[in-house]
Amino acid sequence: MKHDSVLARSFAHHQQKRLRYGAFACCLLIPLYFCTVLRPSLNLLVWNLQLSVGVGLEMLQVEQTNSSQQVIKGKHPDQKIRTPTGLIAENGPQAETKSKDPYALPLFQVAVSKVVTKNLEPICNVLEPRTNFCQINRDVRVDGKSSTVSIVSSQMDVLAGNSPWTIRPYARKEDKKPMNHTRAWSVKPVIGDQEIPRCSRNHSVPAILFSNGGYTGNHFHEFTDIIVPLYITSRKYDGEVQFLISDLRTWWVAKFQAILKGLSNYEFLDIDKEAVHCFPSMTVGLKRHPKDLTIDPSKHSYSMKDFREFLRNTYSLKRANAIRIRDGQSKKPRLLIISRRRTRCFTNLRQITKMARTLGYKVTVEEADRNMSRIAQVVNSCDVLMGVHGAGLTNILFLPENSIFIQILPIGGFEWIATNYFGVPSRGMNLNYLEYKVSKEESTLKNDPHTTPIRGWEGFKSTFLNAQNIKLNVNRFRPTLLKALELLHY
Ligand SMILES: *[C@@H]1O[C@H](CO)[C@@H](O)[C@H](O)[C@H]1NC(C)=O
Ligand SMILES: *[C@@H]1O[C@H](CO)[C@@H](O)[C@H](O)[C@H]1NC(C)=O
Ligand SMILES: *[C@@H]1O[C@H](CO)[C@@H](O)[C@H](O)[C@H]1NC(C)=O
Ligand SMILES: *[C@@H]1O[C@H](CO)[C@@H](O)[C@H](O)[C@H]1NC(C)=O
Repeated sequence: MKHDSVLARSFAHHQQKRLRYGAFACCLLIPLYFCTVLRPSLNLLVWNLQLSVGVGLEMLQVEQTNSSQQVIKGKHPDQKIRTPTGLIAENGPQAETKSKDPYALPLFQVAVSKVVTKNLEPICNVLEPRTNFCQINRDVRVDGKSSTVSIVSSQMDVLAGNSPWTIRPYARKEDKKPMNHTRAWSVKPVIGDQEIPRCSRNHSVPAILFSNGGYTGNHFHEFTDIIVPLYITSRKYDGEVQFLISDLRTWWVAKFQAILKGLSNYEFLDIDKEAVHCFPSMTVGLKRHPKDLTIDPSKHSYSMKDFREFLRNTYSLKRANAIRIRDGQSKKPRLLIISRRRTRCFTNLRQITKMARTLGYKVTVEEADRNMSRIAQVVNSCDVLMGVHGAGLTNILFLPENSIFIQILPIGGFEWIATNYFGVPSRGMNLNYLEYKVSKEESTLKNDPHTTPIRGWEGFKSTFLNAQNIKLNVNRFRPTLLKALELLHY
């Protein structure tokens, strides 16, 4: 206990003696403390039971009330504390004592403004919006059969509030329905040789565990809830990372195989079927930005620009920038119309195509399918993309920089989802965003939304998402396509 003797030198002998009285008083007060102060909701660090009762300086009780303020009991206000686990406490300006002599009985209390904890952060972060994830920087055992992640631990982890956690590794936690289709994993510290599961396979690289549950099957959700978060979480490993996929769907891994290979040098594991795999560290669940199709570079060291560049490399896409139209130039800008077959279709596609050609566009019509490589090539070859609000618009990810994205909003109040799912994210992708709201005459919906009551998301879905098609009024729409041409003169 070297730190103890160093600190002790700064105290006069009588102070040390009084300290011991203080320590003794602390001991008497511990049971009281446990009865009155301990609340299950607090993240509590309690050292005193662990430490030698005879050493006054280590008689600490630290109650973590919140991140900015902690209460330390039993310590001189002018001293820095270095505990055996690396916690450093510094007294802030509001440090106060009840008495002039801090070691006089009864027990004093000091408020400190800043406590830096090392290695003691909770392993799982369940406080962020939208996603829960655990960052485990130590030996970990993953048992797929029992959906358990065991962290080989010390007593301290348990004291730091690292109790068992239940994590559903799909990054849309506020949405009950998809989360219900996501397997729950138990993440728990284990202490002592007997409890620790035996490894059936040892790995030398970190692992990332995520799920194919949730809304998998919807192209937009596959990107915003899985692929973009997976990129955020895994890119820093530069391929040296093992993916563990829970609720695995074989068509999904086939669809995204190029991206999975681009992010990991190892074949993924269908983890639900596996016996115990051991890793030096791992992440359970995926990190994500609270907003859809967005990456915050200040938080994650990568940006949407990096992500789009990664996609271009992955699918060998040639165009980083959209065409730049100069006067007198003969090369035509390309317009891609994203068509839909079942719902929210254009009923006059031929008429729209003809009008666009008269404006000087080369027109392509495509429906999004599961052949990512093909759709990525088609989208990347275009300068303007237009389509009715829907998951297919997620393919704007493959558009070159400075291209134009036109989102068509059916009737029924699409403003919020249109803006938040695609409009705002497209600006983060360095695209020019245009919005076209159809008039009542352009919708095939016969029910007047103002007279038919719509109830909740399900009502909205069955009426406005699934029961309307669009017959664009080409004269009304023409100025939007002209505006797009103008923007290509950037
Ligand atoms: C911490 O707690 C104090 C009082 O208990 C409160 O005034 C302060 O706002 C809290 N700070 C945070 C970041 O929650
Ligand atoms: C979750 O799924 C179970 C069975 O699959 C079902 O009974 C339950 O109602 C679902 N809960 C929610 C909130 O969807
Ligand atoms: C994995 O490593 C542990 C400790 O290093 C060792 O005891 C165990 O036998 C290894 N298991 C396998 C399957 O290689
Ligand atoms: C995807 O489309 C490309 C053509 O763009 C084709 O060569 C490839 O075979 C297709 N892949 C699948 C799985 O259908």
